Amino acid sequence: MKNLNHLIDLNDFGKSQWDEIINLGEKIMDNPHIYEASCRGKIMGTLFYEPSTRTQMSFQSAMLRLGGGIIGFDNPTASSVMKGESLKDTTKTVSGYSDIMVMRHPVAGSVKAAALTADCPIINAGDGGHLHPTQTLTDMLTLHKEKGRLTGLKIGICGDLKYGRTVHSLVKALSCYEGNSFVFISTEELQMPEYITAPLEKWSKSDSIDEVIGGLDVLYMTRIQKERFASEAEYEKQASRYILDAEKMKKAGDDLIVMHPLPRLNEIDVAVDSDPRALYFKQAHYGMYVRMALILIILNYNITPPVLLKGEAQDGDGGIKCKNENCILQKEPHLPHSFIIKGGVATCEYCESRQCI
Ligand code: CP
Repeated sequence: MKNLNHLIDLNDFGKSQWDEIINLGEKIMDNPHIYEASCRGKIMGTLFYEPSTRTQMSFQSAMLRLGGGIIGFDNPTASSVMKGESLKDTTKTVSGYSDIMVMRHPVAGSVKAAALTADCPIINAGDGGHLHPTQTLTDMLTLHKEKGRLTGLKIGICGDLKYGRTVHSLVKALSCYEGNSFVFISTEELQMPEYITAPLEKWSKSDSIDEVIGGLDVLYMTRIQKERFASEAEYEKQASRYILDAEKMKKAGDDLIVMHPLPRLNEIDVAVDSDPRALYFKQAHYGMYVRMALILIILNYNITPPVLLKGEAQDGDGGIKCKNENCILQKEPHLPHSFIIKGGVATCEYCESRQCI
């Protein structure tokens, strides 16, 4: 991989850089005119292999508001992808036309794979059910702006905790700030994966919003990810299980804020929208400022390379192959297999599936 400032996983940047992005996002929000020509002459390529409203348009709006230009597609069937062009060839080509690229793709590890050969920095705008780091930065800016801190918060997360990539990244990030605790509200089938909960110090689970809402600072609602279920029948079993409505909001404190990455289906009743504690549309708006900050920092500043966490060691393939059939490694055989080895467990660097070795 070239030494470019890619953002694939939030951990590609250190915590101090997350804070830098959030602080710059807030500065831009306060004085947007100062930054309106900061990216004049720069081009952002947006490659959306999967549908998006907020991420795609907030990135495009961010670049336009910084004085730059945009190219790209939001429908790969209108590009040479339709003729069978590989991910590698498309992203390599577009990176030659762009100063920075933003990519969403349905397959875990695909943005990391694209970064291996890209000639410009690339930002992960969501890779399957895996990661969505700029949503997490959006959520962190929203929390910081609205709560005044990223520490000492009790955060309830409700809905599809198994497939919801936004909440996986959010929990990982907020656990790096002191004093945060988590309440995971879900059905048995859609619980938070063990690899997310295992490193956490303070967390609990519940199957009821009513039972826990009164003690929360933040309630983060999520959509049941229909597109990730094997069948309609499996999805229907989970749909409509958790709906936040005005009755439930009566049990919440005055300081609660309700967040949602959107799009929502029916998990938040529209009657809640007029409640001043409902922050989700503001959250989507804040996403544009955090992406403006991210573009500026990636294009202008030197981000120091990631530091591996204590106790981890990086390895080559060592004969290990990823077994996740939804991993990009199964679809792009030219890619090198790469793992983080820790305590007898190998974690795929593309999709984070784990295997004992
Ligand atoms: N929150 C989010 O990623 O929304 P979009 O899918 O509309 O981009």
